[in-house]
Amino acid sequence: AGISFGGQMHGLVILDENDEVIRPAILWNDGRTQKETDYLNEVIGKEKISACTANIAFAGFTAPKILWVKENEPENFKKIRKIMLPKDYLAYKLSGVHCCDMSDASGMLLFDVKNRCWSKEMLKICGITEEQMPKLFESYETVGTLKDELAEMLQIPNTCKIVAGAGDNAAAAVATGTVGDGRCNISLGTSGTIFISSAKFGVDKYNALHAFCDANGAYHLMGCMLSAASCNKWWMDEILKTKEYAKEQEDIVKLGENQVFYLPYLMGERSPHNDPSARAAFIGMSMDTTREEMTQAVLEGVAFGLRDSLEVARNLGIQIERTKICGGGAKSLLWKKIIANVMNLKVDVLEVEEGPSMGGAMLAAVGCGAYPDVETVGKKMAYVVDTVKPEEELVAKYEEKYQKFKKLYPSLKPLF
Ligand code: XUL
Repeated sequence: AGISFGGQMHGLVILDENDEVIRPAILWNDGRTQKETDYLNEVIGKEKISACTANIAFAGFTAPKILWVKENEPENFKKIRKIMLPKDYLAYKLSGVHCCDMSDASGMLLFDVKNRCWSKEMLKICGITEEQMPKLFESYETVGTLKDELAEMLQIPNTCKIVAGAGDNAAAAVATGTVGDGRCNISLGTSGTIFISSAKFGVDKYNALHAFCDANGAYHLMGCMLSAASCNKWWMDEILKTKEYAKEQEDIVKLGENQVFYLPYLMGERSPHNDPSARAAFIGMSMDTTREEMTQAVLEGVAFGLRDSLEVARNLGIQIERTKICGGGAKSLLWKKIIANVMNLKVDVLEVEEGPSMGGAMLAAVGCGAYPDVETVGKKMAYVVDTVKPEEELVAKYEEKYQKFKKLYPSLKPLF
């Protein structure tokens, strides 16, 4: 009856006058735009950018990528007819409509989050026009129907609705029922995010957290680390050369006492450091250090990185006591336990750990009228099956470790 999407955010897809892709997409984790990010934050100024978009420039956002293409590939820049995000290109191919939803548009730095429209001022700063931007929809709204030729090819009726969908984190929030005010979701995917839903628009004064639109028509705050479950994947696949992720974690029993620290910045870092040059590091090994301790350090380093964003939210006065969790990393009970204790949060585990694609399907269900709204679909479809609770003694041990972790990045920054 309907198709919708949870898509990786911030990627730049540019189309020419024939709607052909001009160059390979520049993805969310691409750090090439340090110069353009500095230009936006320092020359145009963070205050102005934040007034227009509710956010400041981060290297992964779309606007600095447009400035990069303008400077480095002027011939490609001249050809641009439409600027799209990855999932919206897919929606366009299925429906023929150039569309974008408000949650994903929020991460482009071209969008006025508070007023849910393109920011004329930001478009001007980037040298582009509103005609080059796709039409905006709420995540649960229908964009069009499946094109006839595709309906035939896919053996799906051409009445099938194409529903706008959401950026992967907003979609994951739908999947985990993190809709409404002050609810929290952690995603342990390639990236790691902490997502806090909010009924009202709000921005933190340092813009350390992203202030974006939500899939239900409201807002959220989000911190995003670029490498989360991907740190463990890298450590397992590339270094230990194993696919036995669960087996490698079996012998990790001594929590809160690891002497090894790991900085999770394999691809630079977004929240809260905004530093594409940051790099990963292991620190604190001795002759006694074991393979298990190194693996444990990787899991802990990601949890400490997420805690950095949680601290920003706590400093804003946001009280969070529990969180949902999703993404591939959420399969590991050990990792959930580490997160619960490092962050001092109750971690609610869902029946399905899949976030974005589940959320996409749920948005399609709302778009097709199977549920009246996004909040209701969450209540009907997101089941909490277990809760991992923090333990006082472990929380205290991890607090001490976190205070040490916090000092590592500032000390190493000059070397990066
Ligand atoms: C969020 C972000 C990532 C990507 C991953 O700001 O950049 O979560 O969306 O796909």
